[in-house]
Amino acid sequence: MKKSNPKKVEEFIRVDHAGERGAIKIYEGQLLALNTLIKDENLKKIIEEMKVHEKEHCDFFEKEIEKRKIQPTKLLPLWDLLGIGLGFGSTLLGKKAAMLCTASVEEVIDKHYLDQINQLESDEKKLKENIIKFRQDELDHRDIAYEKGATKQGPYFILDKIIKLGSKIAINISEKI
Ligand SMILES: [Fe+2]
Ligand SMILES: [Fe+2]
Repeated sequence: MKKSNPKKVEEFIRVDHAGERGAIKIYEGQLLALNTLIKDENLKKIIEEMKVHEKEHCDFFEKEIEKRKIQPTKLLPLWDLLGIGLGFGSTLLGKKAAMLCTASVEEVIDKHYLDQINQLESDEKKLKENIIKFRQDELDHRDIAYEKGATKQGPYFILDKIIKLGSKIAINISEKI
């Protein structure tokens, strides 16, 4: 049986746990705005549904962290804060920005998960299958976001770049610490 690199597997689980938790926090930030300053029941419903998937993803990685005794990233409190801030801020900018936030993050995660899938061997079958499923969920989220108004036109072009850069930095840090 082909073996996966154990150090890589550990990094994958640590960063995926952080990322899925970050996704929940982004949606919590968005819901905070939608429960206070912004009225959009339709958008709220969409976000609540996507958040259910992120919770499922996060729970899986949390169990893996416990089972394998992996140290979660030390920066969870920082990612929590930044996630809520990004979610809240993007939603204040309007529906297009809120949905772009999902689209931009999911586009980074799509590549991130694909990269992991390609590195996981048959000794990590269950982990690999889950990441394949989660990646499909994230692609669905991306599609929903574009359907609901996400755009990269005009000023949103810059927002997309900022969110993508931020997500990539968070990924690189959370793999290691
Ligand atoms: Fe997710
Ligand atoms: Fe997602």
